[in-house]
Amino acid sequence: MSRYRLPAPLEELPFVIRPDSETPPFDWETVFGRSAPVELEIGSGKGLFLASAGAQYPDRSFLGVERAGKYFRRAVVRIHGAGLENVRIIRTDAFDLLERWIPPGSVAVAHVYFPDPWPKKRHAKRRLLQGELFRGIHKALCPDGVFCLGSDVRPYFDESVAEILGSGQFTQIEWPDDSPDRIATSYAIKYEKEGRGLNYAKFRRLDTK
Ligand SMILES: C[S@@+](CC[C@H](N)C(=O)[O-])C[C@H]1O[C@@H](n2cnc3c(N)ncnc32)[C@H](O)[C@@H]1O
Repeated sequence: MSRYRLPAPLEELPFVIRPDSETPPFDWETVFGRSAPVELEIGSGKGLFLASAGAQYPDRSFLGVERAGKYFRRAVVRIHGAGLENVRIIRTDAFDLLERWIPPGSVAVAHVYFPDPWPKKRHAKRRLLQGELFRGIHKALCPDGVFCLGSDVRPYFDESVAEILGSGQFTQIEWPDDSPDRIATSYAIKYEKEGRGLNYAKFRRLDTK
């Protein structure tokens, strides 16, 4: 039996959000049952960030999005085990989520950590870090909202930072390595053990027409 067997059918787990094509953009007070700043993690993998951040910041609400069933299940098991009231997760494509269900100007912080680089040209469309994502994050963020990025792949990271800043939609702000909101993800831990360099950047949303 899988170690990551779901604790209950997904429809019985209140922290799993299951919108369909008819679902209107989320009302955060309904989704979280309270009013609090919302943080969005894109590509949540095994859910370590969500569980850690949710426990560390109980006065904030966290939504994770993960496309891959295998990782989504592991995140669901972890979040269930953590018993947190302020964490939600959704299994879908991040681009779809941003387009359909995230109300514009409603997210306080967006996080993207260690997305696969898909270095081959023919796989470029699969990359998370691309203009469409940065525009979607800009639209989702509230005025002065923040975008946190981490990657172990230096060229991918550098290109992304250049594109984000080049868009004129964000400005880079300091993010010292010992900041309390630098929360380890599964891949950060794995890559650090392997001695890979971890690159992080934080941006503040700028108002643009
Ligand atoms: C390398 S893993 C990193 C997971 C986690 N952020 C971490 O640092 O441990 C990248 C994750 O992003 C997810 N992902 C990639 N593209 C996605 C998309 N368009 N929508 C949702 N999830 C996506 C993948 O399925 C994978 O779980």
